[in-house]
Amino acid sequence: MKTGDIELLIEIARFEDSHDMEKEYKIGWSWRHVRIWPATLSRLFKDGYLENVFRSNSHTGYRLSDLGKKLVVGAESEDNPVVSNEPIQTDELFEDIIGHDDVKELLTACLLADKPVHVLLAGPPALAKSLFLWNIERASGEKAIWLVGSATSKAGLWDLVAERQPQIILIDELDKMNVADTAALLSLMEGGRLVRAKRGRELNLSNQLRVVAASNRTGILSPELRSRFAICKLVAYSRSDYLTVVRGVLSRREGLDRELADEVARRLDGISQDVRDAIRVARLAPQLGIDKAIRLLVGGDVDEK
Ligand SMILES: Nc1ncnc2c1ncn2[C@@H]1O[C@H](COP(=O)(O)OP(=O)(O)OP(=O)(O)O)[C@@H](O)[C@H]1O
Ligand SMILES: [Mg+2]
Repeated sequence: MKTGDIELLIEIARFEDSHDMEKEYKIGWSWRHVRIWPATLSRLFKDGYLENVFRSNSHTGYRLSDLGKKLVVGAESEDNPVVSNEPIQTDELFEDIIGHDDVKELLTACLLADKPVHVLLAGPPALAKSLFLWNIERASGEKAIWLVGSATSKAGLWDLVAERQPQIILIDELDKMNVADTAALLSLMEGGRLVRAKRGRELNLSNQLRVVAASNRTGILSPELRSRFAICKLVAYSRSDYLTVVRGVLSRREGLDRELADEVARRLDGISQDVRDAIRVARLAPQLGIDKAIRLLVGGDVDEK
């Protein structure tokens, strides 16, 4: 058995537990369902951990064998959770983000709290809401799952949570999430318990599960969903915050030298408050020059020299 095989078998067992094998996968599941390469499955089969229940030109259907199941039960009873319950490392967690000190403090406290406090970052565009989620995902690795409300996966939130058993769910564009996933979310934010009405199956999650979401608008969320979150309102940057953020983003991320970053920031002062404008200007400035780039991209009152 290769290193990592037991984790694959555990993943497969979770997949099988979250589906009705007799109805949905009568002819077994394939590599696409469990997202494991065919060659790896064929090796696990040869080693006796999987049974081959169907084979045709287009479908090789597998199921966990008794030996595979035994190994999974053994590994899981070793009091050795696959996804560790260690809190995530919060040092340098938000080092990419300039300013927003209160938000950083609140999110860090929520991630470290013994019991969950869910947070919704709300506010106008380009205030680093998604960047906060990305930073949390980067620090959490396997412990977090990332969803975008407007593109929720076909499997749906319930299956995703059953399969991956995350500690943190990150949801961008929460206001665009579909009805089924929103219903699942309401339930799991409250008690970590999901009941799948279709088959009456239940999944008990550790009550450590916490949700961090982002949305432009909170008004269109249902009152019960809003009530489950600590809503952290990000307000549009003041002129001085905008200067600091633009200088920082352009020099750190866009690779502009300090002077040029400063110049773009100063020229945009009073014309735009959108950091994305500054990034576009910086990217086109080598071809167009800063003033023309601003005039063409943002309009406004620019004295071209
Ligand atoms: N305080 C900041 N620190 C670092 N980068 C920032 C900051 N504010 C904005 N940005 C930059 O601005 C761009 C937009 O940020 P992001 O996508 O996180 O915004 P958002 O709040 O999620 O916007 P939207 O509501 O449109 O989704 C990114 O390139 C991001 O790096
Ligand atoms: Mg965003």
